Amino acid sequence: MTHRVDRAVAEHAIVVETLTKRYGNLLAVNGVSFTVRTGEVFAFLGPNGAGKTTTVEIIETIRAPTSGQVSLLGMDVTKRKRDIVPRIGVLPQGFSSFDRITVRETLQYYSRLFSCANTDIDGLIELVNLKDKTREQYKNLSGGLKQRLGIAIALVNDPEVLFLDEPTTGLDPRSRHEVWNLLLGLKEKGKTVFLTTHYMEEAEFLADTVAIISKGKIIAMGSPGALIERNANYLVLTLRSVDEKVFDIVREMGFEPVHDNHKDVRVRVERMDDVQKILNTVQEGGASLLSLDVRKPNLEDVYLKLTGEALHKEPAGGVAA
Ligand SMILES: Nc1ncnc2c1ncn2[C@@H]1O[C@H](COP(=O)(O)OP(=O)(O)O)[C@@H](O)[C@H]1O
Ligand SMILES: [Mg+2]
Repeated sequence: MTHRVDRAVAEHAIVVETLTKRYGNLLAVNGVSFTVRTGEVFAFLGPNGAGKTTTVEIIETIRAPTSGQVSLLGMDVTKRKRDIVPRIGVLPQGFSSFDRITVRETLQYYSRLFSCANTDIDGLIELVNLKDKTREQYKNLSGGLKQRLGIAIALVNDPEVLFLDEPTTGLDPRSRHEVWNLLLGLKEKGKTVFLTTHYMEEAEFLADTVAIISKGKIIAMGSPGALIERNANYLVLTLRSVDEKVFDIVREMGFEPVHDNHKDVRVRVERMDDVQKILNTVQEGGASLLSLDVRKPNLEDVYLKLTGEALHKEPAGGVAA
């Protein structure tokens, strides 16, 4: 990695003020404002078409804003492109590289392309855990390995801010977790990470701050915990039984149960006390349970509550917010 002269570390790596982007009649980004603190993982969470890539590529100096102010590392992204680009790393959405070039050759090439004199290629290969794949051609790597190589490419210039546009889309769960762990390691090294995703578990697992974006607007922002507390302050109780009575018993208690995909009965409750009351009443009613589950709400529930739509399709008859 290149040795860098210490710079005074500003509190905010990114400041975005009332940013808009218009494509013809489409207002793809509609007055978005937020800040990203130096050293944090910031996640833009939203469905396809929400405006994530447009926003992130404006910050990366690739696209021009229609209006608004964006500053990155204290520099205006429309005026200081040449100064900004060497200090950031980018993994674009749907990233791909040269098919028949090996892992090592790829990193050497990108290092030269960005005129980095001191890229520690071996260190990078180790960091992304591709040591036994250094002579493998790109086309022969699995999806997860390709993404890890993409992240290594984004790091050849030892950037201060790393942008990752949907880094785990299409990966299997195990590869996704490997990428997550890699990103947590980068955070520990002090990198500022800007992530876009439509996986709420990804945002919940990785991000210090999540901005939920829908149709070009940020509809909620904060730490995952605070967002859940503010917007989804309840518990979800799921009861499984072969007994049809359970549904009626719960409803007669004044709760609003719904049938889940199987024969499960799902109900929202305020407190653990309610769970106990429901269990007691079900038992007194002579109905037996096969299983029960109590879970806290997650960012998916927050998204559902704020937009009325699911980020991913819920089974029919699921708990509506
Ligand atoms: N270069 C472009 N020209 C015209 N429309 C675009 C362009 N890029 C994106 N869009 C449109 O802008 C909206 C937001 O797209 P995008 O920023 O890619 O969202 P996301 O990354 O959240 O899926 C979409 O409706 C998309 O079709
Ligand atoms: Mg996108």
